[in-house]
Order: sequence, then C-alpha cells, then structure tokens
Amino acid sequence: MHLNQHQLDTIHRDGFLLLPSLFSNSEIDRLSERLPALWSERCQANILEKDSDTVRMTLALHKRDKRFAELVVDPRLVTPAQQLRPEPLYIQQTKVNNKAPNSKDIWQWHHDFGNHRINDGIARPLALNIHVFLDDVDHFNGPICFIPGSHVAKDDTLIDHNVFYDDQTSSFAVWAVDDDVVKHRLLAAEKRQAGRSIVAATGVRGSALIFFDTTLHCSPANISLNKRSIFSMIVNPVSNKYTIDTRPDHLHHKDLTPLPNYAVAV
Ligand code: SIN
Ligand code: MN
Repeated sequence: MHLNQHQLDTIHRDGFLLLPSLFSNSEIDRLSERLPALWSERCQANILEKDSDTVRMTLALHKRDKRFAELVVDPRLVTPAQQLRPEPLYIQQTKVNNKAPNSKDIWQWHHDFGNHRINDGIARPLALNIHVFLDDVDHFNGPICFIPGSHVAKDDTLIDHNVFYDDQTSSFAVWAVDDDVVKHRLLAAEKRQAGRSIVAATGVRGSALIFFDTTLHCSPANISLNKRSIFSMIVNPVSNKYTIDTRPDHLHHKDLTPLPNYAVAV
C-alpha cells in the first residue's frame, strides 16, 4: 500500500495520518486473541497500570509472538514507512498499549523524540510511530489526541520541544511537555485552522495511524465500558541509531537488521 500524494501532504502538514480500515476484522481477531496470554506473562516487558494489576503496555511483541512478528513486516505498514523514510529502518520498539474499561491511566502531553533523544541518544527526530487499532477507538475510550502541525516550527524545521521528567502521572516515566508549550502549540494550531487545535485519532478496529517523532500527542482516561488496545511499532533509520545503550532491549531493540522489504518498497 503506497501513500498517495494527498496522504503524503496531510502527514507533512499535520504530523500524523489516519489510514481507516487498513486491516480486516478477521486479521485483527487473530492478533487480539493473542493478548490475554501475553498479558498473563509476568515479565519486565509487561508494564502494569499504576493502581491495578491490568497490563498497560506489553512490549517486544514481534519477539514474543509469531503473529505480531508477521505484522511488523506487513507491506501495508512497511511500504508507507519506507516512502516517508527511504533508507534502511530498524525496529526500535513494538508494543500494545492497553486501556481497560474505565481505566484512569492517561498519557500526558509529550513528543516521542524527547524520550528517544534523552533515553537512547537518538540524534535526529526521524523515527516513525505506526499504530494499528485492535479495538474501535472513539472519543470516550482514551483516543490519542494530536495537535496538528505541532511537529514543525514556522520555517518547517522539526521542533525539539522542551521536556521535563514525569514519573508521577503513570507507572511509566515519560519525558513530558509542560502546559506552556502545549498552550503555545494549541494557539498556533487554532490560528492555522479555527476549531482544529486538537484532533482525536478515532476509527474502527483495523485502522492505522502514522505519526512523526516531534508531533505533540497525549491520551485521556478511558471513561467508557469498552477496552482500547492499540498496537504500536516505532521504526528508526539505521543511520540514526541509538547512541546510549542503557535501556533494556524491550524498550529499545538493539538489533539493527533493516525491515526486509527495504529494497522493494521504495
Ligand atoms: C497511547 O497509547 O494512548 C499513547 C501512545 C503514545 O504515546 O504513542
Ligand atoms: Mn508517544
């Protein structure tokens, strides 16, 4: 699946792109049915919610499960990634982020590059985060919310937003972005297009989402009765690889083998 020109223009303008219904219901069933077994493993690659025994993140999935190993090389994910970054890409991280019904856990405002730069010594914000919705995502079950255009400054250069270390809000420490930065970017987005300062990435299960490393995003609590699981794979150019090697492999994989279809996809 190649992104068309409109889709390429959209992701470069907004910093994120939704691809509705990229996978069928039966393909999503085959992935989702693996989750309870993966969640039941008590290992470091499963991170629990702050105040419960529910798994919030289950990581290293392509190393732990054959079906997820097949997903990460699916051309529907790899081809768009290679179009956006036409060079060898390695898999930096895979996970499912889960929000149980009525879960209070949130993801605070952040950009992924703040975390990649500080935690892993990544030099440039070139990683791509590629999601697949394993459940319908609506406005009530904790959708990921983006500030359109927050990835770039006025002159179109990628922004390295200021960050602070937040290990209080959830069980997973994040280099988060403070309220002043968020307010500034919300106002800029509102000025660009009135009524579109925040967009919730909603869609049916099987939809996909791609976003850039500097795009500001967060997700609120799940206030509904419906669970929300989203698969995420972060890919990064081998030429931009980690220079700090202190995090465990499930948080940043050290295997630099490029995605297999690099040669054919571009
Ligand atoms: C979420 O799953 O709600 C947040 C994911 C992210 O920050 O990439
Ligand atoms: Mn993120």
